[in-house]
Amino acid sequence: MPKTLKDVPGYAPHGGALEIRAADDSEAAMLAEEAKGLPTIDANGRRVVSDLELMAVGAVSPNRGFMTKADYESVVNEMRLASGLPWSLPITLSATEEEAKNFKEGERVAITHEGRPIALIDVEDIFTYDVRDEAEKTYRTTDEAHPGVAYLYSQGPHYVGGEVTVLENVFAHEFEEYRLTPLRLRERIASEGWRTVVAFQTRNPIHRAHEYLTKCALEIVDGLVIHPLVGGTKGDDIPAGVRMKCYEVLMENYYPQNRVVLSVFPAAMRYGGPREAIWHALLRKNYGMTHFIVGRDHAGVGDYYGSYDAQLLFDEFEQGELGIWPLKFEHSFYCKKCEAMGSDKTCPHGKDDRVFLSGTQVREMLAAGQEPPHEFSRPEVARILIDAERSKA
Ligand code: ADX
Repeated sequence: MPKTLKDVPGYAPHGGALEIRAADDSEAAMLAEEAKGLPTIDANGRRVVSDLELMAVGAVSPNRGFMTKADYESVVNEMRLASGLPWSLPITLSATEEEAKNFKEGERVAITHEGRPIALIDVEDIFTYDVRDEAEKTYRTTDEAHPGVAYLYSQGPHYVGGEVTVLENVFAHEFEEYRLTPLRLRERIASEGWRTVVAFQTRNPIHRAHEYLTKCALEIVDGLVIHPLVGGTKGDDIPAGVRMKCYEVLMENYYPQNRVVLSVFPAAMRYGGPREAIWHALLRKNYGMTHFIVGRDHAGVGDYYGSYDAQLLFDEFEQGELGIWPLKFEHSFYCKKCEAMGSDKTCPHGKDDRVFLSGTQVREMLAAGQEPPHEFSRPEVARILIDAERSKA
């Protein structure tokens, strides 16, 4: 059976133990056989598959599966699990009408991806939900143009809660050498002897502003984990494969190898701004981090969130309650007068002295084969992005 690991290296996971839901190899073969005769729920795209990987490795501890009604309602309304432990976003499995009529509470169901069973769920709860209420409370909008909300609207009308056992990790082969599980990352941190470790979440190439945040953080903690999200992202985000090349070139040329680990974060993006920032932090706690970088418009999209809403949400929890410390950064930029990176906190100069490029401007420059200024992006990174644009054309 899946293991509950209490004696993991490093600081305690959220809730105290790493809940690893992957089946052992021998067990997986037996369960895959059993799955053939079970009713099924289709994973409905990349997000559930990514959630299953997070469960398999214990990244969403103390959750042992998809949320039951009690946890779901408590998380949506209170940002806490029913136990009272902080948790900001629901982890849900939806089922269509068609699927839900084939099973009842108390039964076992196979979760399938492209027709193959990849996990089993012991159904504790089947419940309907108010999708607009969930969207409004978790994403602060019901606008279907918001990618997280659009995903909610694409779901079936039932949620199915219960513990899962994961049989197959569909994306295991992607960036395999960088796919450190919470247990592996904790072992690595322990072997480095780091007592404090900061995680950097990103879904973008690392530009100078990102690099600045990570290096400021690294000045005060022992180690840095560059932890790019490689689960599903929206179509116009730069694909993970291209981003990984950018991170590698930065690791080689601009980061001290003995203080930094590059490892991928297999979650799918929700674009949930403040609530996703808390979720990102809690998962990184499970990966063994003590600190977490939260900058401007963390996990934001469009104009749905204020620049510092995510930082403010951390303040709604009691000190120490989350068990991971946010390192908050203001909007950072290169200032020509300072001849350095900075923010309003450290730079007294005006807008005209600052190098600022919008995402659209950067995309246009790259598409035209033009390198953004070195104050904005390292030339090695710019060249990878230009090549990627060229190969698209
Ligand atoms: S995110 O969706 O993963 O948050 P992104 O990769 O752009 O998007 O950001 C990674 C982290 O860097 C987030 O914490 C974000 O707030 C922060 N960040 C990005 N750009 C800046 C900037 N110019 N100044 C300060 N923080 C920033």
